[in-house]
Amino acid sequence: MVEANSRPVAKIRVSTRVFSENEIREISQKYGTPVFLIDEETLRRKVRELEEAFSGFRGPIRIAYSMKANFNPAVVKVFVSEGILFDITSLGELYFYSRCGGAPENAIYTSVTEEEQEFFQILQAGVSRIVVGSYNGLINLINASERAQKSPRILARVNPEVAVKAGIRASYRHGKFGVPFNSGTTDSAHHLVRKIMDNPRLIFEGFHFHLGSQVVDPQCFLSALDKLEIFIHRMSREYPDINVKVIDIGGGTPVVYDEPVPTPREIGTMLMPRLNQLAQRLNSNPTVILESGRYLSAESCVLVSKIVNAKTYGDQKLIFVDAGYHLLLDAALLRQEYPQEVYPKGRYEPESRITVAGRLCDTYDIFPSSQLSNLDGASVGKFLAFRNVGAYSIVFNMPFHCQTKPAIVMRRMNGDFVLVRQAQTIEDLYREEGGELEITF
Ligand SMILES: Cc1ncc(COP(=O)(O)O)c(C=O)c1O
Repeated sequence: MVEANSRPVAKIRVSTRVFSENEIREISQKYGTPVFLIDEETLRRKVRELEEAFSGFRGPIRIAYSMKANFNPAVVKVFVSEGILFDITSLGELYFYSRCGGAPENAIYTSVTEEEQEFFQILQAGVSRIVVGSYNGLINLINASERAQKSPRILARVNPEVAVKAGIRASYRHGKFGVPFNSGTTDSAHHLVRKIMDNPRLIFEGFHFHLGSQVVDPQCFLSALDKLEIFIHRMSREYPDINVKVIDIGGGTPVVYDEPVPTPREIGTMLMPRLNQLAQRLNSNPTVILESGRYLSAESCVLVSKIVNAKTYGDQKLIFVDAGYHLLLDAALLRQEYPQEVYPKGRYEPESRITVAGRLCDTYDIFPSSQLSNLDGASVGKFLAFRNVGAYSIVFNMPFHCQTKPAIVMRRMNGDFVLVRQAQTIEDLYREEGGELEITF
């Protein structure tokens, strides 16, 4: 087991501060607040870190960016230019990916609804690696493949039903993703593999599982691989020539928000002996795919807000920022603690506890403060930055209270800051909500 508490907190605080105080102040003055800042170098470095962490695998290892975490075109283009695979979940994501120059052969398509027309469209677009996690979905894929006259490479999505310690669990009994190895119905991996193997149009490529996001104990991967190996062994009695070419172990690599978590290197070190053993026993030189949305995109990004009001209740000081959970939904939904920092820094005031409140008229619009936060000297007029917000935040931006989407600015490799998303104006929002449609009442 990886010792989750083995890393000193001070080290973590330094490693996740991506922008300097000067940069935060200058960009916020230029573009206004709230504003998201993204660092291209960090995005690229995260790819290297994952690759290195799994470099001890005896066969090919591929990293796939899960673009559900952040589909901003500039971010997608950075990862496309890295030549990595992409985990794509909807026709909309596929559109973004293609427009950003992504090649269909680098896409892994994993739908939740698995509709026939959806499969037909992705096959027509040239995507051939498809994950299937339901019997109906497989029938839909077979029909779509016939119509499109294509032969997809299929990964059977299994739900290994193992215990998962994670911020968000995706594999558990009766969960919505994938199929169990044996459920007693056609919705089992056993039936899926049979149906794929028996259909000459389909190419069975291997298995996929996704255990959860922000996985804090990698033991679940080992348990899932154990179950998978037993299952493959059983299937190989029925199909002696079954060839497992791909094992996709999904996402879940965690990010430091509020407490130490295992690093990719620690996770890789823990999984490697088991993956190597499995690969050797399979004798098919399988490729291992590691998907990641959160780890690849979170640390590159900071949301800068401004402290616009404050009040005190006894020993509690409430500070109001011009952000809210419409920009960081998981702060409300999951009580996600994004590390916060005040600029310019001030003096520690032992007599007051500081609570950060958002601008929405909703009780849940309070930001839990990470133990890595430093709110010393928070007062009206200063900036408050939320760190590590690059994953599952920009994609959830919403217009509650007629709030507009803020600008996104990227620091390029040469240090230049460029606008990569224009701030939405209130006029844009009014028009998008139908305000200018010719309707009389
Ligand atoms: C199938 C699949 N793969 C990968 C991911 C990415 O997970 P993470 O961002 O935690 O790496 C998800 C997230 O929901 C997912 O559903």
